[in-house]
Order: sequence, then structure tokens, then C-alpha cells
Amino acid sequence: MKKKEENQESHFNEYAYDWWNKSGHYKLLHKLNPIRSEYILSKCSLSGKNILDIGCGGGLLCEELCKKGANVTGIDSSKKSISIARQHAKEQSLDIEYKNESIFDLASTMSFDYVVCFEMIEHINDPNMLIKKIDEITKKDSKLFLSTINRNLKSFLLAKIVAEYILNYVPKGTHQYSKFITPYEVTSLLESHNFKIKNIDGLDFNPLDESFSLSKNTDINYFLYAQKYT
Ligand SMILES: C[S@@+](CC[C@H](N)C(=O)[O-])C[C@H]1O[C@@H](n2cnc3c(N)ncnc32)[C@H](O)[C@@H]1O
Repeated sequence: MKKKEENQESHFNEYAYDWWNKSGHYKLLHKLNPIRSEYILSKCSLSGKNILDIGCGGGLLCEELCKKGANVTGIDSSKKSISIARQHAKEQSLDIEYKNESIFDLASTMSFDYVVCFEMIEHINDPNMLIKKIDEITKKDSKLFLSTINRNLKSFLLAKIVAEYILNYVPKGTHQYSKFITPYEVTSLLESHNFKIKNIDGLDFNPLDESFSLSKNTDINYFLYAQKYT
């Protein structure tokens, strides 16, 4: 178990140099970024809110949220990713706090207004532990925004085989199919940790212009918004 998480860490260290290359290994995350911030902004105001970005990578979303007026903390277990994120924020004169540690090591005494967790839950071994941690570091009315990949034959073929081995959209070995997680599974975990689901939207991908749009089809990628009720 530990070994697999270490492999993931070295995978993200290996490609960290490319976080801000809009046509590199993370180009799809760059294409997704505007839709993410629009999705969050359509549900709440960010001004003055304390936000934690779990698995922030090179800080793509942290920077957008900071520009919209939030106090942003980004956490990532990949040392090189955090180093790139810090450097980029400095170059942009953005005041973002970055922590290089696993979310599981973050002190549970911290409490955030909003937590964002985009394209991260499908990289960890125990999603229940992640949601439990999110419960511990939030309070009544805190909001959670999460995106991930559904688990079914279609997502295996498109998000794993086509994306990694045919079109090379993401580096080979980025995803493990067994860690993909269904909306029903995430919903059940959240409901057992004091969150109520407010919205789930799917994402459509257009390979012609490599653009994303929100849709009702959650077969592959989906966004989810939940709020803590206690
Ligand atoms: C696919 S990347 C997503 C990056 C970013 N959220 C984005 O979408 O732009 C997943 C990130 O999660 C990080 N990660 C994986 N397990 C983690 C953990 N236990 N704690 C913190 N970060 C973790 C990885 O290092 C990697 O940077």
C-alpha cells in the first residue's frame, strides 16, 4: 500500500517541471481550469474565504482562486510540484501558502471555509480516509468541490487506454483503473462524514478542439459540490 503511494509521489515529482506548460503533460488540466473556477464561483463567493486545495500540484487552481480574492493554501505530497507552485506564485506576485506534505499529515486543528480537491481522490489508496480528513478540517456550512473519474468500462477505455496509451494526453501510468470512483461511492462516503451533496455535473470532452463543457453525463469525468451540515 505504502509502496504504491510512493510510486505515485515519484510519478508526480517526475513530471513536476511541466505543470505550467500549457501544451505539455498537463495541458488538459489547463483546459479544465477555467471551467473549474466558473463552477466554484457559480456556487459561492470566494472573497476573503479560507480555501484548502488538496493535491494542488503546480498550483493551477490555487492561483485562479487567489486571483478571485480567496486566502488559499495548497497542499501536495510531491516536493517538486510544491517547489514549482511556490516559484510560479512568486513570479505572479500571488500570496499563496504552499505545504509540502500528505493531506493525511495535515493537523486536524485547521479549519477551512472551502476545500477543493480536483483530480486527486483517484490517486489515493483509501478514499474513505481522505473524506474523513476533509470532515476533520472543516466546519458547519463548509463547502467541498471535488472532481474525479467514474469507474466503468467507458471510463476505462477513454480515461485510461485512449488518454494514456493512444492519444498521450497524460503520461502513461498516471491513473490506476481500480482507484477510479463512482459518484455513488463518493456520495456515500460524504454522507457518512457529515456532508450533503448539493450538485453533481458531468463533463463532456471535445477531442477536436480539446475543450471541456459541463453536462449531465457523468460516465467519465464529473464535478461534485457538497456542503457540511453539522
Ligand atoms: C492529477 S494531480 C492534480 C493536481 C491539481 N489538483 C490539478 O488538478 O491541477 C494529483 C495531485 O495529487 C497529489 N497527491 C496525491 N496523493 C496525495 C496526498 N496523499 N496528499 C497530498 N497530495 C497528494 C499528487 O502529488 C498530484 O500533484
